[in-house]
This record gives sequence, C-alpha cells and structure tokens, in this order.
Amino acid sequence: MFTLGLDDHWKNEIVKLVPDSGRALDLGCGTGILTECMAKSNPRLEIVGVDITPDFLAAYDERLRMKPWINARSVLGNAETVALEGEFDVIVSSYLAKYVDPDLFLGNVTPHLKSGGTFVAHDFILPTNPLYLNPWRAYTWAMNRVGPRLFPGWHAAFDDGLTGLIRESRWQDDLVRTLDKFGYIGIHSRKLSFESAGLVWATKA
Ligand SMILES: C[S@@+](CC[C@H](N)C(=O)[O-])C[C@H]1O[C@@H](n2cnc3c(N)ncnc32)[C@H](O)[C@@H]1O
Repeated sequence: MFTLGLDDHWKNEIVKLVPDSGRALDLGCGTGILTECMAKSNPRLEIVGVDITPDFLAAYDERLRMKPWINARSVLGNAETVALEGEFDVIVSSYLAKYVDPDLFLGNVTPHLKSGGTFVAHDFILPTNPLYLNPWRAYTWAMNRVGPRLFPGWHAAFDDGLTGLIRESRWQDDLVRTLDKFGYIGIHSRKLSFESAGLVWATKA
C-alpha cells in the first residue's frame, strides 16, 4: 500500500538473485512475505526466517502452518547478534538494512554465508535526483497525513518516523563500503523504481 504495489516488483528482483536450492536466511523476515516469494519460485529451498518482533514471528509461523509447502522455520532474534546454526547459500533481507549497523550485521552473518554464497539487501532509499525527490516528498507528506486516517492499524508504516529514517539513512552506500571491508566480491548497488528503493548484492569470496 505504502509502496504503490512496487513491493512485488522489488521482491521479484531479490528472488532473481536467490539460488534454486540450498539454505536461505531471511533476516528481518517479518510476517514472511519474502520467505513465501522465495519458496514459491524455489520450492527446494530450505529457509530460516529471523525477526526481532515476536508478534511478526507469530504471524510468520501462522503463514507456515497455513502453507505447509513453504520449507521454513523461524528464529526470534536481532540480526546483529542472533546465534545462527550452519551455513547458508544466500542471505537476504527486505526493509531491514536501514535499522541495523552494517558492521555488526555483516560481522554476525558473514561467517554463516558459504564461500561463493550471495548476500542481498533491499530497502527504501531517499531519491537524490530532484526529478524523483520532489514527488517522493509530496507522496510521503500526503501519506503521513491521509494514511493514518484511512488505515489506522498501519500507523507504523505512515508515521513520520519511517520517512524520517529513510531521509537520514545512508544504508546503501554504507553497506557497499562495509561489504568491501569484509572482503566480499562482485558488489553491486542498484536504485529501483524512481530511486525509491535500493538493492545491494555481493558474493562472499
Ligand atoms: C517492514 S518489515 C519487513 C518484513 C519482511 N522482510 C517483508 O519484506 O515483508 C521490517 C522487519 O524488520 C524487523 N527488524 C527490525 N530491526 C531488526 C533487527 N535488528 N533484527 C531483526 N529484525 C529486525 C522488524 O521487526 C520487521 O519485521
């Protein structure tokens, strides 16, 4: 709703980078939207979802109960500190990067990514091109005023806290720098959909 339907497109861009099989770690998995997208395209994947919010994980578990074809399990924890088991072929996150310290985040998860494995992060960004920045400002201003009245249960998605965070965060550049520092190779950084979201991916050497 906040993304004007672009979320599906962004999730597809993430899924394109995910291997057909093996183990996937979905950090900040929330209620499991990305986990379900990955399982739909790649049914042989074994997925572990991690989130810091118990209520979201309860909804994640309910999704797994209703859709037993999703081969996943959930772990409650902070992506920066959670104890992980084993190695993963791919580590993904959608809307997590702006919340975490890239050094702590990569320091915690990198030892659990296989050599040759892929790291993918997606989140909102602030457009830098004025052609996109001015409509972005107008849209978020309107959503922050109209949204809470139309969808009272979704206040967290609309309040100025989220737009303020997007305005201040430089997660995309910070993550690219930190991936380089951690020795990742093939580091890519793309702006999506009129610079409203960013996608970063890289390979563990
Ligand atoms: C907007 S939701 C996105 C959920 C899901 N990735 C999706 O795309 O639908 C962001 C999620 O990040 C989680 N989160 C925020 N900080 C976190 C952290 N440090 N560690 C783990 N999860 C975190 C929140 O609890 C929330 O579920």
